[in-house]
Amino acid sequence: MDDRHIPSQHDGNAYRLAAPFFNAYLTQVGRGTPGGEYMRRFWHPVAVSAETGATPKSVRVLGEDLIVFRDGKGRPGLVYPRCCHRGADLYYGKIEDEGIRCCYHGWLFDVEGRCLDQPCEPEGGLHKERVRQPWYPVREQYGLVWAYMGPPEKMPLLPRYDVFETRGPGEIIVAEDNGLGSGGDAPGFIAPCNWLQHWENIMDPFHVPILHASFSVSQFVKEMAILPEGDWEYVPLGVRYTGIRQLGGGRALRRVTEVMAPTLRVVASPLLKPGFIDSLGWTLPVDDTHYKIFSVHRTGNPGERRGSLYNGKRWSELTPEEHQAMPGDYEAQVGQGPVTFHSEEHLTTTDKGIGMLRRFLARQIKIVEDGGDPAGVIFDEAQIVVKLEAGNFFFDEAAR
Ligand code: FES
Ligand SMILES: [Fe+2]
Repeated sequence: MDDRHIPSQHDGNAYRLAAPFFNAYLTQVGRGTPGGEYMRRFWHPVAVSAETGATPKSVRVLGEDLIVFRDGKGRPGLVYPRCCHRGADLYYGKIEDEGIRCCYHGWLFDVEGRCLDQPCEPEGGLHKERVRQPWYPVREQYGLVWAYMGPPEKMPLLPRYDVFETRGPGEIIVAEDNGLGSGGDAPGFIAPCNWLQHWENIMDPFHVPILHASFSVSQFVKEMAILPEGDWEYVPLGVRYTGIRQLGGGRALRRVTEVMAPTLRVVASPLLKPGFIDSLGWTLPVDDTHYKIFSVHRTGNPGERRGSLYNGKRWSELTPEEHQAMPGDYEAQVGQGPVTFHSEEHLTTTDKGIGMLRRFLARQIKIVEDGGDPAGVIFDEAQIVVKLEAGNFFFDEAAR
């Protein structure tokens, strides 16, 4: 028997390392894959509204290359890049009041792909209604452009979130495409690894006291170096972790963090801002080996610091030597490889949340494979507001 697969029976010599593999069921996002069909049952953020204008932009989402634009009437559009005439890239198109015009022979398409003009054809195209540029439905909410890339007959409502439904005096909603996982200061940043490596990290509370707080520098605040005591639980839309930190002097902190279908990162402020969260992030799978993060937050102070700092520097300002000496989430997760080899992992007690998250995701993918509707897909207007529980809650230990 080949015993190379049984870690306890080998001496650790790397010569005996078995060929690695990853769990494609959980990590693949392309059309036609189980995970990709699951993802395609939800709305995903694809662009920041304020950055979507009269210049077409190339975006890659769930392994598909697309063009996002806004027509002269203010309507956002998301179309397949290859013009349905003879394949010129609509990235080079020109925006007009009614839509986007291809640079090659001037066909004009509206935001739903209808061909409105074929200038070289007799009478502007007598049969132009017979062609349609492939397109996806989009909506705008919270300053983001959202797309639904799944089967049209299954299109759900675009969820709303309680944290953004009420605002204090002077508060505004800020939407960003900011590479939050890298430190929140890298606009448009695309991380070169599978989306699940980032999403799992949110259910990994024990990397916080090490990676972020004691391994090199304190990247958030010093209380994060305290090991939490807590547990994970399944919630209808994902997994929740509640951790208690003893702060000394009878004070304690209850910190609640959630992951929710399909890609939500519901993370209490790592700077320990008290109370319920005021921000949400979406871990958008760009393709199987890249992700990016869109985030929305509610604030009365738009310039406030929200992310990590490394000896006073922002992540994007670090030299290669500083990245090596002060690794953060980006270094840890991208360092796992384009798609981490699950076959080489050794999950332990403190990885319970990782296992729960993977089981949750596998169950949801299976529901879609079996023809059902996954958790988090909303069809009933009465259920459109999603309630979130994450936050930092300080209390007196004696009063517990
Ligand atoms: S290729 Fe687009 S109009 Fe001809
Ligand atoms: Fe982290």
